[in-house]
Order: sequence, then C-alpha cells, then structure tokens
Amino acid sequence: MKPRILVAREVFPEVLERLRRHFEVDDNQGDTVLGIEGLKARLADKAGALTAATDPLMAEVISAAPGLKALCNFAVGYNNIDLAACTRAGVMATNTPGVLDDTTADLAWALLMATARRLPAAERWLRNGEWKGWQFIQWLGSDIHHATLGILGMGRIGQTVARRALGFDMKVIYHNRTPLAAEQEAAIRATWVDKESLLRESDFLVLLLPYSPATHHTIGAAELALMKPTAHLINVARGGIVDDEALISALRQRRLSGAGIDVFEGEPKFNPGFLELDNVALSPHIGSSSRATRMAMAMTAADNLIAALSGQRPPNLLNPEVWK
Ligand code: DGY
Repeated sequence: MKPRILVAREVFPEVLERLRRHFEVDDNQGDTVLGIEGLKARLADKAGALTAATDPLMAEVISAAPGLKALCNFAVGYNNIDLAACTRAGVMATNTPGVLDDTTADLAWALLMATARRLPAAERWLRNGEWKGWQFIQWLGSDIHHATLGILGMGRIGQTVARRALGFDMKVIYHNRTPLAAEQEAAIRATWVDKESLLRESDFLVLLLPYSPATHHTIGAAELALMKPTAHLINVARGGIVDDEALISALRQRRLSGAGIDVFEGEPKFNPGFLELDNVALSPHIGSSSRATRMAMAMTAADNLIAALSGQRPPNLLNPEVWK
C-alpha cells in the first residue's frame, strides 16, 4: 500500500500527478487555510506532508500525527515549523533553498526601484486624472545608480541581490554574523561593516534575515533613527523582523524617505497605517512568486518527501539528528 500524504495548500496539477505515482494523496486544491485544528485532523493518518509557510506546524500538530515521518515545506523559510518538536518526534523537516534566490532578489529590486522612483504614488496620481502637464520639478525620486546598497543578512538571496547592484555601479555594504570569504566578497564587490555603520551609511537597506525569536524587531525605532532621512528600507524576508508601527511612524514623519515591503507583521492582516502613506511600495508576500519558481519549489519539496518516505536522506534535511 502507498503511504498516505497531505498536500496542505493548492499546488500545480503536475506536482499532484507526480506525488500520486508514489503516494495516496489527500490534496487541498480548494486552498482552505487549514490552521492548527485542520492540520491536526488531516495529518492524523498521514506519513508525510507538503506544507507552506502559512501552515502552523507546531508541537501539538506534530504530536497529533503518530505516523508522521516527514514535513516538507515548499518555502525556504521554516519559521512555521517547530523544528525541536519534529526532532523529538523523529519527524524529518525540509525546506527549498536555492531555487527561489533569483526570483526573490528580482522582487527586492522591483520594490527598491518602485520606492526610489515613487512609482506607486505617481501611478495613482496619473490614474486619478491629476496629471495636468509636464513639469520640470515633479515627482522627484532618489537615484539608485552610484548609491550605497546595504544588505542585512548576506545568505544566498543577499548575494544575489548584491550581484544585481554591479549593473547600477553601487557601493555594496553588508552585515552578517559571519563575513563572506574574501573571494565571495570580491565577486560581488561587497564589504562587511558592523550593524550600526550599515544602518547609518545605506541609501537602500535590504533585509534578508530569517525570522526567529532572535530576529524579532531587528529593525525598530532605535535602528530606524540611525538611518539617513533620505534612505529607503526594503523587506522581502519575513514580517516581524521590522517593527511595523515604528516603520510607519518614521515614514509618516519623513524620518525615512520610503520603503518597499513584501512581508508584514501578522499577515495577511497588516497595519492599516501603511495604506495612508504615499512613500511606500507594497506587495502581498510574492517574493518567490513566478510560475517557474513556484513549480521548482513544489517539485523540490516533492523530491524531499519522496526521498524521506522511501528510506533515503532528503536533500534539504533541516534536522539531521533525526536521520542519525
Ligand atoms: C519562502 O520561501 O520562505 C517564501 O517566503 C514563500 O513562503
């Protein structure tokens, strides 16, 4: 008999077809958000699951599924999974690193350019019929070329964002607990600086940290106060890394020039103060959302699940203790 698995959110039919060759699949093509109770009920008789960053896979969900062997997130972030609870229960957890770096870096740049050149507000103004004629001093934005790009969290996506800055002749500085090797820095012309210098010197600061209790409100009122009033903040990482209330206040008072935000505290709800601002570019957590990349993420998660349930080590195992 094939192992039973859950696919917790809607995925492409090709992914389900592939999974059905290996498993008896309980899908969720209606895309209901299952939540804790829904996940407990649907995982109770399953050996594995393909899950999204929106699925709260906490200890009580994991302990309600006695036959569970693997949880395979189709996301690089895994702050929705209680990894320690998985390890205690002998459940393998996996993510999808690598396949979404370029697409997420592209969105960071889209938001950076949109906030620099004030595109959302200018478009709203045009659509509202307020454009009465070309003026020399009109919709002045910030230059991207030759500006200083700061990156907080210099993993794969950070390095991919930095590589794109070469074409804009930017100075690139970054902060990371561990600096890159000299040859990696040279390839993208990036220089490690301490966090305070990063905040003080960046014209555009891109956040690419994973979310955890340790990174909660990494950017709050004190950090925003160190930034230049001409600077822009871009967050394509996770809600909660930024104190949204403090950010809104800095933007409202023009203590910060602008922001490009893809992720919010408590999303899909978010602080309505963002909607009152004309100096933000907002998007609904779509960093990795191109068809090709979402397909690659789902197929990578499927690779992990197929390996895990056929006795092989999944390629993107997050808790190798379980394997040992
Ligand atoms: C990720 O991969 O972590 C993206 O944010 C999608 O959830």
